[in-house]
Amino acid sequence: MKSLALKYRPKTFNDLVGQIHASQSLKNAIEYKHIRQAYLFFGSRGVGKTSTARILSRCLNCVNGPTVEPCGTCSSCIEISEGRSVDVIEMDAASNRGIENIRELRENARFAPMKSKYKIYIIDEVHMLTNESFNALLKILEEPPGHVVFIMATTEQHKIPETIISRCQVFGFRKFSIQDIRDRLEYILNTEKIAYHKDSILPICQKAEGSMRDAVSLLDQAIAYSGNKPIDLEVISNLLGIHPLETYLEFVESFRNSDAKKNLLIIHRLFSEGLNLKRFIWDLLDFMKSMILVKNELLERENFSYAASEIDKLKKYADLWDVSELILVFESFYKLYSNWSLFQTSKSAEIKISLEIAVVDIFEKLKRPSVSKLMQKITMLKNAIEKGTDYVDETASSLQNNNEIDQKKDITLPRYSETVIDKENIKQKNDEKHATNDNNSDKEFDIDTLIQKEFMAQEQNDTKSENIFLDK
Ligand SMILES: Nc1ncnc2c1ncn2[C@@H]1O[C@H](COP(=O)(O)OP(=O)(O)OP(=O)(O)O)[C@@H](O)[C@H]1O
Ligand SMILES: [Mg+2]
Ligand SMILES: [Zn+2]
Repeated sequence: MKSLALKYRPKTFNDLVGQIHASQSLKNAIEYKHIRQAYLFFGSRGVGKTSTARILSRCLNCVNGPTVEPCGTCSSCIEISEGRSVDVIEMDAASNRGIENIRELRENARFAPMKSKYKIYIIDEVHMLTNESFNALLKILEEPPGHVVFIMATTEQHKIPETIISRCQVFGFRKFSIQDIRDRLEYILNTEKIAYHKDSILPICQKAEGSMRDAVSLLDQAIAYSGNKPIDLEVISNLLGIHPLETYLEFVESFRNSDAKKNLLIIHRLFSEGLNLKRFIWDLLDFMKSMILVKNELLERENFSYAASEIDKLKKYADLWDVSELILVFESFYKLYSNWSLFQTSKSAEIKISLEIAVVDIFEKLKRPSVSKLMQKITMLKNAIEKGTDYVDETASSLQNNNEIDQKKDITLPRYSETVIDKENIKQKNDEKHATNDNNSDKEFDIDTLIQKEFMAQEQNDTKSENIFLDK
């Protein structure tokens, strides 16, 4: 049976998802008969470069061609779809990179097409050609026979010599958004009449990382995995080796709750279940990125790889965090992940040890007060002093109120709930100073400075400076 990726390879421009820039320009060129002799398509894997090259070939060589709507039934259209047209020569530069291959191509290109209007060369992975081959190719691109069209495709445009690029019309192919992929997968599922739970598709869209081919191939596997049952989240989670959202929530929340033991237990559990910890951390990074973006409302909801109800949950938890601390945790894991990649660490025991130490290190870092927390507290203290009211830590109370949202009731008070700064003392000092100075702006400035100084002094005096900000 044909794979879904092949079955759903777009055959016309109408069928092609996205890539509007390329498809619109190519359609115009065909319509107005401004067909160029060399095209270069670049973009990451599985985004439609080869598919577009074949669509363009069909448009040019269809019996009705050049036309933007090839018939799909003439021998030329059918042969091109099946990759066996004598006039559309597909060449993989990765395995035909030598000078002799390009010399042969140059010889053959001189002969007119056998059955169609154009002789079309589709050169895939063109960046793989040797320098010598590029030079030989350049010669023919400089003066191509009138009946020849070159369509080159690459995932690595920066490896193509400028001399080649300047002789081509260049189109960039973009990665797909989660929404584009989701629409396409749902279209395929509906056409195939396969039942599925809506939320189960999202993790596939995320895993595909912008590649439509990867998404469709994963869907193919999910269909096979589900048998006759509707595709659900459990099947997808097993297939992709992903953990439920709660695992990540629990892991991240432990940092906020100063519960290092819990995190080490989670790591131990995943390790003993034989799960890939490196993969877990990568997914955790994605999860934390979403927390940061959702907290600051920096991304449209449909672009998250989570269901709407999950995004709401994510937002509630993210709002409990100070964003700089969230970023601190993210960066620490990112650094760890990058080091694993850099040093090609693959032994699971090594990964586990370094992960455990990284977790302890993050807890240590989180004990230090963040600049934004300090600034927040200074402002609150200043307001209290100016109004002569009691100092109430608003961060603490807002966090306590938010506890209602946590059904498990496992969110403890924030680490920095009160301060031991003696506000009476500060006020007194300020009043004394103020008695000799009745300039208002100076007064404001003095209070700020005074409180800041007080913080600094306490921090310096106290060998365990963090204690100032710890729960009492
Ligand atoms: N724009 C698109 N619209 C619809 N389906 C697409 C699109 N792009 C890719 N696909 C799906 O992915 C499969 C592979 O696409 P294609 O071979 O055109 O990608 P590519 O960009 O050439 O990838 P590679 O760089 O790996 O060669 C297609 O058969 C199709 O199922
Ligand atoms: Mg391709
Ligand atoms: Zn046709």
